[in-house]
Amino acid sequence: MRQHDIVIVGAGLAGLRAAFEGITAGLDTAVLTKVHPLRSHSCAAQGGVNAAINPNDNWEDHAYDTVKGADWLGDEDAIEIMCEEAPQAVLDLDTMGAPFSREDDGTLAQRPFGGQSYARTAYAADRTGHAMLHTLWEQAIKLGTHIYQEWQMLHILKDPNTGRCAGVVAYDIATGKVETILAKTVLIATGGYGRIYASNTNAMINTGDGVALALKAGAHAADLEFVQFHPTGLRNSGILISEGVRGEGAYLIGADGKRFMQKYAPNKLELASRDVVSRAETMEIMNGNGKNGAIFLDVRHLGRDIILERLPQIRQLSIDFEGVDPINEPIPVRPTCHYTMGGIRTNKLGETYVPGLFAAGEAACVSVHGANRLGANSLLETIVYGKVTGKEMVRQIQEGTTREFPTYNREDVLIVERKIAELKARSSEDGYRQADLREDLTQAMQEHVGVFREEKSLKKGLKKILDIKEKYKKLYIDDKSENFNTDLLTALELGNLIALAEGTVRSALAREESRGAHSREEFTTRDDKKWMKHSIVKWNHATDEAEVDYEPVRQLGKERYKPVERTY
Ligand code: FUM
Repeated sequence: MRQHDIVIVGAGLAGLRAAFEGITAGLDTAVLTKVHPLRSHSCAAQGGVNAAINPNDNWEDHAYDTVKGADWLGDEDAIEIMCEEAPQAVLDLDTMGAPFSREDDGTLAQRPFGGQSYARTAYAADRTGHAMLHTLWEQAIKLGTHIYQEWQMLHILKDPNTGRCAGVVAYDIATGKVETILAKTVLIATGGYGRIYASNTNAMINTGDGVALALKAGAHAADLEFVQFHPTGLRNSGILISEGVRGEGAYLIGADGKRFMQKYAPNKLELASRDVVSRAETMEIMNGNGKNGAIFLDVRHLGRDIILERLPQIRQLSIDFEGVDPINEPIPVRPTCHYTMGGIRTNKLGETYVPGLFAAGEAACVSVHGANRLGANSLLETIVYGKVTGKEMVRQIQEGTTREFPTYNREDVLIVERKIAELKARSSEDGYRQADLREDLTQAMQEHVGVFREEKSLKKGLKKILDIKEKYKKLYIDDKSENFNTDLLTALELGNLIALAEGTVRSALAREESRGAHSREEFTTRDDKKWMKHSIVKWNHATDEAEVDYEPVRQLGKERYKPVERTY
């Protein structure tokens, strides 16, 4: 039997930061990941990480900007922890050797980002996540973390006597074996589920496995309707062009060659929060000022030297994927699904509703982002809440809440094995191909649950998703082999995407207001009286459906956080 004190699922920044806490506390800590750790999606983060490091800045302003950016749906206690701990969290990484960009005097360079009152985004050129992930990976290797590399989690085990999380059932992708791994505590750090949309900036792996499986294991998911559309995804591929580009001074222009943000955010212009900019772009495109579904990001005035020094990756991506060199031409971009504010509901220590099961990073909804995340608060959340949650897991083990390994029900493992066998046994005459259902699902989300939402269309979207869910019961796979069976893995991932798409559309239909990234055509304003509350999705196993409930926002009652109209 495999067993570890701590099992962390996901080897991105949140997972590896938590692993650092486990290992340095002397606990047997394992990280399980369906890819090589350096292929985790954290690696794709470009623009930077926020922290009030400069003596002229302060964490309280950062916290206020975040509460406002979240459109007052963020939990203020968690936001304060994140912003107060930010400078130390970034300095931890700096001390470990993360190659952050620096000023001539050696201090960390910081650039402006959207929705913030100070230039507080530290960065490593336009490859910040890449630099940070490599740094934490080096630590994981140096410290001897046990890595289950290319292992896919398929189920979260619970102790039948206590209801405590007991570990995970996982699939060794190389051998095709189903294995049981027991743990005293488990952390879900599997990232978001942006792949529920057809156009997104996310890695192929972002299928929300951890969120969906935690939901099925009895944890709650919160705020699934709040999906962030990044204003500058490349037109054709959806690949991210960092907000850092606008931080460096780039303009958004329409097909008419003119800037348009003055109409929508007269003070912050291109550096308004992402939800505001994405809506502005969508309006421009709908009103005929786009070209082939895109508007343009213009960096030409920054000049060749700045582009090559600070934005080398976005230049290369534009050349490779759009055939456009930004030194000479504006880049065609459009709003693209980028981030899921929703996730597994946790308290400010990362605990979920299932004892012993924790969540951190994009997989979690702690909730520091509320209805809209500020750019560069995501990397920050991973390193602050990876650390906070890691420390809490260690504390619970060391102080004895959970000294012994829990027991588990062997039948749970057999159910997983039977599910795989059934998928392999089905033939093409009996059912549907996963690639077709995935295409239908992501197109339905794109069409019906986008930047602007409307009741009739949301209902159509829900109907399509439920239809796909039915068809999924008759899924077949072509590849029946044992080793590296990606057909099987993507089929299993699709089940997770469907559950999260259902939760997203049900929560979006129920929320009759416009707040942050959730913009309803029939309810165009924010309604604090009725809707200042988190949507909570629970999985009803009797009906096999996502059910929506509510929970109050954790407010601190401070005068400075009093809700006001959000303008930029
Ligand atoms: O635009 C960006 O560089 C993305 C940053 C983020 O999502 O935090």
